[in-house]
Amino acid sequence: MGDNGFLRYPATLSALKELTLIRPDDWHLHLRDDAVLDAVIASSAEDFSRAIIMPNLVPPVVTRKDAENYRQRIRSACSKLTGAAQHFEPLMTLYLTEQTDPVDLIAAHAAGVIQAVKLYPAGATTNSSSGVHNIEAVYPVLEAMQRAGVVLCMHGEVTDPDVDIFDREAVFIDRVLTPLRTAFPELRMVLEHVTTADGVAYVQSQTQYQACTLTPHHLVINRNHMLVGGIRPHYYCLPILKRREHQQALVKAATSGDARFFLGTDSAPHVTHTKESACGCAGVFNAPNTLSVLATVFEAANALDNLEAFVSKNGPKFYGLRENREQITLRRETEAVTFPDTLTCGDETITVFDPGMPLHWQVV
Ligand code: NCD
Ligand code: ZN
Repeated sequence: MGDNGFLRYPATLSALKELTLIRPDDWHLHLRDDAVLDAVIASSAEDFSRAIIMPNLVPPVVTRKDAENYRQRIRSACSKLTGAAQHFEPLMTLYLTEQTDPVDLIAAHAAGVIQAVKLYPAGATTNSSSGVHNIEAVYPVLEAMQRAGVVLCMHGEVTDPDVDIFDREAVFIDRVLTPLRTAFPELRMVLEHVTTADGVAYVQSQTQYQACTLTPHHLVINRNHMLVGGIRPHYYCLPILKRREHQQALVKAATSGDARFFLGTDSAPHVTHTKESACGCAGVFNAPNTLSVLATVFEAANALDNLEAFVSKNGPKFYGLRENREQITLRRETEAVTFPDTLTCGDETITVFDPGMPLHWQVV
């Protein structure tokens, strides 16, 4: 029996040995730039057709021109890969600021340069200092986005120092998202990397204009894994891991087949020493083993039939894009499948997410 204390995973649960799926997409991905981009790109491009690329570079991706240039750098990193990975398609986003020009944004969308815009409350997470302080200051931009059908992706946490870090998502829903939804009933919004039962319940209570992404790590670990028996910096991410009851609500939502829930890995590489530090960076680098982890979670929930909806169908449906034509096959191996502990990045390493339990599914 494989076990990380949460997911009980009997090694003989499934008689199914192979699973063929529409090739998945990742609806929330950090690829960074330069040497890190070169180090991590294959991990996503080998298993996924497309990904929504987060714009929190330093400086951030704020204009159409920035998005075109960044897309070109990603495409050129892909051109060094082989096979299907060469054709990985980055779906670009703009980083919303109080200075965002709606004319530039709408033109970028109409030209197919961007698929979405990302809202970071200022100071909420890694590289978010240029984010939004006063949400009402961007209401004219959101109005234009609603009219043009541009998706708004949201980092759903308040940054008020009086709000406990474990409550920041639930308070965001009450204070920011609920009024936003009333003001913009037909704006397509994605609450990114939902981590609480409150987030799940909010999305379930809404119309087809509201969806959310879920990460693999929030499905398999909770705050005990990060904090009991020693502090594990490679499990530190934002929004922070919550208690087990929240984790259970996320697994239930992900495996339910509900079209409003889909995969966004939030794979967020930082070089190892910046996480193993007195003030470590937030972010989990999970791209190499995402599909193995998810097959394990869905199998343990007896929901392998819903895996394709979660990784390949619900996302394109929400974004109004076609499903991928290619397929991938996952095979269930008798022996546990292993992944490298780290990737090399120049003189540094990037530590790969350790789900803390044996994985038996492998992309073939
Ligand atoms: C992300 C990063 O490192 O860019 N970190 C994280 O913990 N998820 C930013 C983000 O998505 O919040
Ligand atoms: Zn992210």
